[in-house]
Amino acid sequence: MARRKKIYEGKAKILYEGPEPGTLVQYFKDDATAFNAEKRDVVEGKGVLNNRLSEFFMNGLNTIGVPTHFMKRLNMREQLVRAVEIIPLEVVVRNVAAGSISKRLGIEEGTPLPRPIVEFYYKDDALGDPLVTEEHIIAFGWASQQDLDDMVALALRVNDFISGIMLGVGIKLVDFKIEIGRIWDGDFMRLVVADEISPDSCRLWDIHTGQKLDKDVFRRDLGNLADAYTEVARRLGVLPQNGAPRGKPTLIN
Ligand code: TMP
Repeated sequence: MARRKKIYEGKAKILYEGPEPGTLVQYFKDDATAFNAEKRDVVEGKGVLNNRLSEFFMNGLNTIGVPTHFMKRLNMREQLVRAVEIIPLEVVVRNVAAGSISKRLGIEEGTPLPRPIVEFYYKDDALGDPLVTEEHIIAFGWASQQDLDDMVALALRVNDFISGIMLGVGIKLVDFKIEIGRIWDGDFMRLVVADEISPDSCRLWDIHTGQKLDKDVFRRDLGNLADAYTEVARRLGVLPQNGAPRGKPTLIN
């Protein structure tokens, strides 16, 4: 089969032209990067795990009526997604202080926040993805006030859904990042969750031990990243201990 046309290559994924107009194939690499790719490594199996985990979360979101770009998983490393126009903002939701908010505001890591906090970062590697306010976003035309309201609502629904699923398997969703895209249907535009949802883009702590089960294991040299992601997948029933991985999400009873 002729190799598909590469549309875009990022740090952890590649997008290829899809089989139908308006579709793309999203390929998950094993590459791990942190601090804007200053730290990098190859973690064998990470792409396979993130493909499965992102499928699991996106399928679940689609099922409860939160629209995503996800259509179906194609194989171990690839999924079919709808082509979207990515809004150049990283949308972060925080339930517990960690990472940059702890550093910026001097809040001890692990401090529960009084309510989920939604932040926007402007996607620009050269600038190091700076934190921006709604004023910046509207003034520079990255999104409208209506888009922002819809993005906050989407992000909070994702937060409630993933928090609940994780709680069911003894994991705290500390924070996460999503990307949101536009899909056009004639003049009508809707916003959908795009990119990926995986331990690369979340902070996940074991509820009892506080053990980190996310990319901080790599960022902070805390152990084997693939082992941490495998543990998340195993708890969610995405990769059962015995037997082949299941393709469909198994929502917690
Ligand atoms: P932060 O505390 O470093 O701002 O990260 C907040 C959340 O966003 C955390 O779950 C990790 C995720 N994240 C990404 O997915 N990509 C990034 O480039 C950064 C900086 C954070």
